[in-house]
Amino acid sequence: MARRIVLTSQKGGVGKTTVALNLALAFAERGKRTLLVDLDPQGGIGHALARGDTELVGLTDLLMGQITAEEAVLPTRVANLTLLPRGRLDPAEVSEYELALASGPVLRRALDPIDARFDLTLIDTPSGVGIVTRAALGLADYALIPFQAEALALRSLSQVLRAIDRVRAGENPRLEMLGIVPTMVDRNDDSSLAVMNDVWSGLWGVTDTSIPRAAIFARASLAGLPVGFLAGRPPPEARRFDLLAAELEGAMDEISPRKEEHHDRPARALL
Ligand SMILES: Nc1ncnc2c1ncn2[C@@H]1O[C@H](COP(=O)(O)OP(=O)(O)OP(=O)(O)O)[C@@H](O)[C@H]1O
Ligand SMILES: [Mg+2]
Repeated sequence: MARRIVLTSQKGGVGKTTVALNLALAFAERGKRTLLVDLDPQGGIGHALARGDTELVGLTDLLMGQITAEEAVLPTRVANLTLLPRGRLDPAEVSEYELALASGPVLRRALDPIDARFDLTLIDTPSGVGIVTRAALGLADYALIPFQAEALALRSLSQVLRAIDRVRAGENPRLEMLGIVPTMVDRNDDSSLAVMNDVWSGLWGVTDTSIPRAAIFARASLAGLPVGFLAGRPPPEARRFDLLAAELEGAMDEISPRKEEHHDRPARALL
């Protein structure tokens, strides 16, 4: 069974989708069989990564029983990287879709048979901890929080941390915090650096690897591509995600033995 990582943030536009896509690619390139799930009703991960289809089938079509699990996933041109796109969704039906996703075991039933053959599942969510994100946190092993390095972001960070605590106290005691990833860090902006100093010194779980603010991300997201896929010289920003993937692999290995302790083990016979 894949280890499931949910990317979540209270605030919108902080770089969740950017981190999800580039990090999924980095894990895949490091040899992990990786599934990237687009759980954002507004999402559109991977249109360009896949085959250029304008309307990819995916989770919505699967939930409506129109396609099989096998048909819902989309292999990419990158070995080890597979997408589970959002699927075809009429904007007028977003609320129904969200309610369906969040009702009982619907999401788990859809995902269990799909991600059993992967090492890692990254789940991109809409901003805020609404019902869809909560459903994803309910079946995840880890939460990863992209955090935009600016002064007003600290409040929204505490809101999402509280939401994670609630899920852990309720429906999913296995949920662990994997990390808070600083994004859009602007080295030329004193207030961005001051926020970074505050979070690195004052908060547990902030990753050493941060993602700088760089114009190339806007170009990459317009093209629907990871930064390393744009034409030209490989940008240094792409390397950041390899460093982040390595750091998170280490963090997961550290957390895993602790996770095992949560479970009661059956008695074993020695002789
Ligand atoms: N490190 C970065 N530097 C500069 N721009 C960035 C960076 N990361 C993301 N962006 C840009 O910021 C915008 C928002 O990023 P993204 O879509 O990843 O955020 P999000 O948290 O997924 O948003 P939403 O809450 O709407 O889903 C995009 O235009 C993206 O190109
Ligand atoms: Mg997004």
